[in-house]
Amino acid sequence: MSAFPKIFVAGATGLLGGRIVQALVDQNVSVRALVRPGAGEEKKRALTALRSGRLELVEGDITDPVERLAEVVGDATTVISAVQGGPEVIVDGQANLMRAAEKAGAQRFIPSDFAFDLTKLDDGDNFMIDWRRQAATALAGSGLDVISVLNGAFYEVMTGFMGLIDWQGATLSHWGDPDQPLDLTSVADTAAYTAAVALDPAATGTLRFAGEVMSMRDFHDAVQRGSGRTLRLRHFGTADDLRAEIARQAALTHNPFDYVALQYQWCMVSGKAKFDSLDNARYPNVTPSSLTDFVRGTAPAL
Ligand SMILES: NC(=O)c1ccc[n+]([C@@H]2O[C@H](COP(=O)([O-])OP(=O)(O)OC[C@H]3O[C@@H](n4cnc5c(N)ncnc54)[C@H](OP(=O)(O)O)[C@@H]3O)[C@@H](O)[C@H]2O)c1
Repeated sequence: MSAFPKIFVAGATGLLGGRIVQALVDQNVSVRALVRPGAGEEKKRALTALRSGRLELVEGDITDPVERLAEVVGDATTVISAVQGGPEVIVDGQANLMRAAEKAGAQRFIPSDFAFDLTKLDDGDNFMIDWRRQAATALAGSGLDVISVLNGAFYEVMTGFMGLIDWQGATLSHWGDPDQPLDLTSVADTAAYTAAVALDPAATGTLRFAGEVMSMRDFHDAVQRGSGRTLRLRHFGTADDLRAEIARQAALTHNPFDYVALQYQWCMVSGKAKFDSLDNARYPNVTPSSLTDFVRGTAPAL
């Protein structure tokens, strides 16, 4: 029999989920991963953990009927959700998966939170985080132990999706106080911490991790050091100015995804979603990479 319980992962074909599966399999853990029937062969092949023989793929969708979903959860004791989507996935889908996990006899559920401190935010601060807090309310009534893993912002998001860095124009732009500390972690390190939590029988509640806690000034220095390039630091305005800009954009569009990157930035640069403490020390075997090293390995060639 395996030394570790079997772990069920939903969202394994995604950016974070695939790394969580890999982190578990690297520790000889048996993983059963949910793959949507429509997922292409390419996505499945990208799951290199398949070669280990410790990863079993099962087809399904977290919105499937509970009985059917409970069958695929099977004998897994811990269910990790790394799904992404709208409220039908994050709120209703995860509540459905939680019911299936409970029916199957699982004991623990790690929801797809993986953000800054969402417990400190209010409705309207960030609509995608609102869904995660609604999911937390829906999951609270279950008999499962719900463990929330928080990681601040991914290095990948801070150097990419957020649109802060313009490599061609050689600028790094930001809102808010340049000395406000920010919690940042790479996708791989978030996956490593999630695997550690999943394998820690004493883990419970909300656990907070950061690869680096750094101000925008430190971030600018690290990006320059890692990339070997000089970037001019541009300041767009205060956190209050950013809030006003979000309201201005919200009045102009029916699509909140147009300004969601600004909402993520506001939660961070305002300091509202800053972690008060970290749980890194709980897992000394996880040694997160520095932002400088991350940028050294990922900065685009010009
Ligand atoms: N802190 C940060 O900076 C940060 C940044 C990005 C993401 N995140 C968080 O990390 C988590 C994972 O995000 P990600 O970027 O890894 O997402 P992603 O790459 O978009 O992957 C989402 C995964 O969810 C699966 N999925 C979606 N709907 C599903 C359903 N109904 N049933 C089953 N599977 C479903 C997708 O399957 P298919 O492959 O079939 O589509 C895919 O495997 C989310 O909670 C997200 O908010 C945090």
